[in-house]
Amino acid sequence: MTIVQGRVRDQRTATPARRERVLPPLRIGPFEVDTPVVLAPMAGITNPGFRRLCREQGAGYYVCEMITARGLVEKNPLTFRMIAFDADERPRSMQLYGVDPESMRRAARMVVERDLADHIDMNFGCPVPKVTRRGGGAALPFKRKLFERIVRETVEGAGDRPVTVKMRIGIDDDHHTYLDAARIAVDAGAVAVALHARTASQRYSGAADWSAIARLREAVPSHVPVLGNGDIFSAQDALDMVARTGCDGVVVGRGCLGRPWLFGDLEAAFAGRELPAPPDLGQVASTLRRHAVLLCEHMGDHKGIRDVRKHIAWYLKGFPVGPELRRSLGMVESIDHLDELLSELDPHEPFPAEADGPRGRQGSPGRVVLPEHWLDDPDDLAVPFGADVEHSGG
Ligand SMILES: Cc1cc2nc3c(=O)[nH]c(=O)nc-3n(C[C@H](O)[C@H](O)[C@H](O)COP(=O)(O)O)c2cc1C
Repeated sequence: MTIVQGRVRDQRTATPARRERVLPPLRIGPFEVDTPVVLAPMAGITNPGFRRLCREQGAGYYVCEMITARGLVEKNPLTFRMIAFDADERPRSMQLYGVDPESMRRAARMVVERDLADHIDMNFGCPVPKVTRRGGGAALPFKRKLFERIVRETVEGAGDRPVTVKMRIGIDDDHHTYLDAARIAVDAGAVAVALHARTASQRYSGAADWSAIARLREAVPSHVPVLGNGDIFSAQDALDMVARTGCDGVVVGRGCLGRPWLFGDLEAAFAGRELPAPPDLGQVASTLRRHAVLLCEHMGDHKGIRDVRKHIAWYLKGFPVGPELRRSLGMVESIDHLDELLSELDPHEPFPAEADGPRGRQGSPGRVVLPEHWLDDPDDLAVPFGADVEHSGG
């Protein structure tokens, strides 16, 4: 079965001048999407409302917020509430986190039996200390046998639903794991690998090392897509990453915060079309309003309007909007209130150059906290105790 997901909607006027497609469609198991772009899973961000907003701009794979295997297996109601997809969302991509092969297998089995998602992405990139301290996230691929078992069990549990793996370069510069981990994952049945080209100790600081993505592309069999991730803040960045690394698709995280139309730009760029004109402040305001409405629809009015508050600064980045209005927007109480505040903006204000470039968390590098003796034996199969926590990803 091949499911082709076409463009969802291109709201803005793209010039029809056609050039060659930059890359062939991106195939993840039975799914094929013309635009080789993946929305990176982001805890607290990539909920159904935000995914719909992005899907309205351009085609791609849109991955949900991270779901813990333990939450699934223990039938935690909160976990089940997070697994929500729109009726027209295909494929339904779920990111699963876990360190215990048995619970990952059971969680993947549940995904199939309850038809919760069409595709499972596994998170081995989280650098958060409370996760790595217990051997989870980006710490785990160092334990290559355990890593192999987790991927294999998940693939077996998932049956014919494709499983992909997302990881970092390694723990730090002395412990790169990605090349081994990718080979292991592919041998264990993963159908694609994504690399956030930073080590866990870099967190989000500095620049992603795209040369690692190029090395990964060379190391992995050519029929297995390699997805590059890290520091794509514009469509040109995506084209540059593809040109420099040979990757088969890109994963975009922080670049779309307050800028979901980036997916329209990416669709145009990969199709070889001219990019749509950047939005003026009036268009930005209507996108922000749409975001708020979608969050309210999915989360209820109270939670939805509060959730949109954290996006306001990203939407307004670089625009000349006074501190008073920004503050009021950051405390917006309802859609009517939002309308009132947005009406104070000058809709003709052009998109500012300052809004280009990096956005979202950056932070500083730091030592990766690991369990005691973690680095002594990479072949140790012991499941790290207590690492199967509920947590926000990264
Ligand atoms: C707020 C936030 C939450 C994130 N949550 C997750 C997550 O749950 N799972 C995951 O694999 N990566 C997570 N990430 C990492 C992103 O998926 C992505 O790998 C990273 O941001 C680098 O890509 P970028 O440079 O395009 O942002 C998160 C990143 C951010 C900024």
